[in-house]
Formats: sequence, structure tokens, C-alpha cells
Amino acid sequence: MKLTKSGTNEPAIDDIVAWDRKHQLHPWAPMDAWRGYDNMVVNTAKGIHLWDATGKRFIDGPGGMWCVQIGYGRQEMADAIAAQVMQLPYASPWTTATEPSAILAKKIADMAPGDLNNVFFTTGGSTAVDTALRTVHFFNNRLGRQNKKIIIAREKGYHGSTYLASTVTGKERDKNRFDVETRLVRFLPDVNPYVRPAGMTETAWCDEKVADLERMIESVGAENIGGFIAEPILCSGGVIIPPAGYHKRTFDICRKHDILYISDEVVTAFGRIGHWFASEAEFGIVPDMITCAKGLTSGYLPLGACIISDRVMDRMTGPDDGAGSRYVIFEWLHIFRPPCELCRGA
Ligand SMILES: Cc1ncc(COP(=O)(O)O)c(C=O)c1O
Repeated sequence: MKLTKSGTNEPAIDDIVAWDRKHQLHPWAPMDAWRGYDNMVVNTAKGIHLWDATGKRFIDGPGGMWCVQIGYGRQEMADAIAAQVMQLPYASPWTTATEPSAILAKKIADMAPGDLNNVFFTTGGSTAVDTALRTVHFFNNRLGRQNKKIIIAREKGYHGSTYLASTVTGKERDKNRFDVETRLVRFLPDVNPYVRPAGMTETAWCDEKVADLERMIESVGAENIGGFIAEPILCSGGVIIPPAGYHKRTFDICRKHDILYISDEVVTAFGRIGHWFASEAEFGIVPDMITCAKGLTSGYLPLGACIISDRVMDRMTGPDDGAGSRYVIFEWLHIFRPPCELCRGA
């Protein structure tokens, strides 16, 4: 079907399809079919529905990519963002505070479990994960534990596409032709209860998965392991809920060995499974750090955050006793952190 917008200056849908095919490199693009297929053009959304260019309506089950918690077309969101753009669209994150970002940081701290009271805003989920991983390194450097840097991650876990976040991603690594920093990570075997041997109870499977972590710590050495990262529910890894008790038991082991526990809630936070955050409400743990994005703005604008506990902050702040330097800087910045309209929208 030839779809044109005759009588307007707007490009025809056929042109959009052709330009997209020719010029846009999409995520997860199959290299053997480069320019060999078209993506569906969507151009309108309202509530839970999307419409394609022919006017065909779809229910958007996943909410974009697990983002659009509040649904499409929310007028109050558009108004808040537009008003903030006109009032103050940007302010340097180095030297200024802004009302929307301070309010949002306070709100997130109030919603987050336990002492997770310190919010570092990022540009999305991967950069929130990078922030958490680099905080593990910074934390241990500050404590003079230069070797305590390895991150334990899990097969089938997805944590993002930046260099560090993809390093700790355990999904289909055999098919991934991008380089990662293998020195920094060790992977635990799949926790999916559905792949347990026939006849094994879920409790026994949980024991086995907890033992995987204990064995890993034993072989790598707790003095070399800085952090553990896990999604409360393995999201892109198949929407897999780990066996009952797994998170609490692995959290306790991490605590015993002073391994920082990062709960990657990029998908599960902000109502996706019925709570602001799933870590405590659903799984009974108050992690050292929570990473989040997606539902934070419901996908209306890109924004993420790494939320750090007071317990961690208390141990990595204060003067440096080491090389006699006058002060220590948390030298980590996203220049678009946090554009005011994003925070106002969130
Ligand atoms: C659990 C999890 N962590 C991190 C990310 C990366 O987020 P982003 O794509 O915003 O960088 C994703 C993305 O789907 C995710 O599912």
C-alpha cells in the first residue's frame, strides 16, 4: 500500500519506512539482514493503545519497553514538561541545585526502602548501572581495598548496553561480538527454577543456587569481590522469578563478606510489579544500591538513577587518610544530569 500525505509538507509513510531502513541502526539489529526488513511505523498512542501508520490499533502489552507505566497521552505530564522547559530547561549539575531535581531526589529517597537516601541521577538504566559499578570501585579504593573490585553477576541477567553494564550482562554472551571487560566479572549459573533437574524441589534448587554463590566466593576470594548485581526478577532473561528465599539468602551472604549488593530495578521499580520498589516489598531485602530508570518518567523522557544507602555513603565520605590529598571527589558526571524538565515530569 502506498501511503502518502498528499497536500501536506509531511513526508509520506513510504519515505519514513525507507529512511528508517536506510539510515537508522536499531538496537539488536540482525547483521545478516541489514537493510533487509522494515520496522512497523507507529505514530500515535493513547492510554494502553498504539496506532500504526495505517490506522491499525494495537494494545501495547509491554508498555513500550516496560516503560510507560502511566499510559500514553497524559496531559499533566506534557504540561509539567512544557512549563519547566520555559522556566528553566537546564542548569549545570556541578554548581547549582534546582527545585525539580531536589524534590525528585527527596521523593525517591522517601519511596526507596531503608536508608537508600542518596540519589545520583543518570541518563537511563545502563548509566545507572555504570554508576553503581563504579561506586563499588570508588568505595573500595577509598577503603584502601584495591583488589576488592570483581563483580558477581548472573547468567541471563540483563543490565544494559554501555561497556560496563554489558560487561555484567549474562545474556547470550556467546552471540555477542562486542568486547567486554572480562577481568571485572564472574557469572553464576542460571537461577531459573524451570531448568532444575526433574524431581528436584524448588527448595533444593534454591540451596543449589545459594551454594553457587558460596562456591564462587570461596574460589575467587571475598577480598577480591566488591559487588553482586541482580535483578529482583530476571526481566529480559525471560521474566523469571528466582526460587523463594534466594534474594534474602544471597543478600545475607554478601553482607557477611562485605560485598555490596546492587539490586537492578530498572524494570521492576515504579509500579511495574505493584510497588515503588520490589527489593524490600516483594523480596525482603534493603540493598546497598538500587538502580532504576524506565518507569521513573514512564518513558516520556530519558532519566535514570542510582540510589545509594547511607551505610555506603558514610563509609566512603570524609577526608582521605591515604596519599595526603586535600580532598576526594566523586568524579562521575552526566552533563545532562538532571535536566529540570525530566525531574518535573517524573
Ligand atoms: C534490568 C535492566 N537494567 C538495565 C537496563 C538498561 O537500561 P537502558 O536501556 O535505559 O540503558 C535495562 C533495559 O532494558 C534493564 O532491563
